Amino acid sequence: MRIVILGTGAGGGLPQWNCGCPNCDAAREGRIPSMSQSGIAISADGENWALVNASPDLRNQLAASPVLRPGALRGSPILSVLVTNGDIDHVAGLLTLREGQPFDLFATPAIHAVLAANPMLSALNPKLVQRREIALDRPFELVKGLTAELFSVPGKVPLYLEGDVVETGRMGEETVGVELSAAGRRVLYVPGCAFVPDWLRTRISGADALLLDGTLWTDDEMIRAGLGVKTGRRMGHVPVSGPDGSMSLLADVQVQRRIYVHLNNSNPLVDPASPERAHAEAAGWQVGHDGMEIMP
Ligand code: MLT
Ligand code: MN
Ligand code: ZN
Repeated sequence: MRIVILGTGAGGGLPQWNCGCPNCDAAREGRIPSMSQSGIAISADGENWALVNASPDLRNQLAASPVLRPGALRGSPILSVLVTNGDIDHVAGLLTLREGQPFDLFATPAIHAVLAANPMLSALNPKLVQRREIALDRPFELVKGLTAELFSVPGKVPLYLEGDVVETGRMGEETVGVELSAAGRRVLYVPGCAFVPDWLRTRISGADALLLDGTLWTDDEMIRAGLGVKTGRRMGHVPVSGPDGSMSLLADVQVQRRIYVHLNNSNPLVDPASPERAHAEAAGWQVGHDGMEIMP
């Protein structure tokens, strides 16, 4: 299995266009690596590829990925696209894929309903782009040789669909994790998750790789930094640190390789020289970077 992390950032990326926080400035000045928005590419054979999530930065991400270049005058090794929720950072890139190229678009029925309600996405020609509804907990072939299974994780509806009362940590079809397997290898990709329940620890156990929601280091970091009014949990993201954080809750769960993805620009982990990064690495975690390739 080959996985390329196309984008490691959360919504907004690093630097975020309207953010003057120390991390965004450091990225602007080239002192720390920039991060484009969240998504991966995956293949069982190195020839047939699927995207999981399509970020607003997709065009640049594809241009920067040698394995995803067309092999003919017109064409693409990308045969499938799967989205794990309806968030803008995971679906806006679908508009980048509108140039008359056939592919299958996979999502749960609830996420497909959100996509179908957006008239702009009818730019994806239905004769070429097959929208495939995938039930939870049922394995399917995502792309040649690669099996995927969607499972519900604690989350919420997309920000633009939030009403007056928002149920966070909701288990439904709106936010899913994906288990990917090929040739006896098993990888979990969970870029959004509001907390880590016991059953998720069990599901992760024994995996060859875990790519997990690393949005925030602490639940209230955006509030304390003066960058926002919401906690991470309110946004549907479990923090990395602390007793209820993902690092501590997964400390005794056996997994070959553990990598944080979907990092917000407020997270101190985005700075390779930060003490928090050293702490996470000492706990066995890696922080993803754009273009990072792993072969589980
Ligand atoms: C999130 O991950 O919380 C969302 O992508 C936020 C957003 O839609 O900008
Ligand atoms: Mn996001
Ligand atoms: Zn910032």
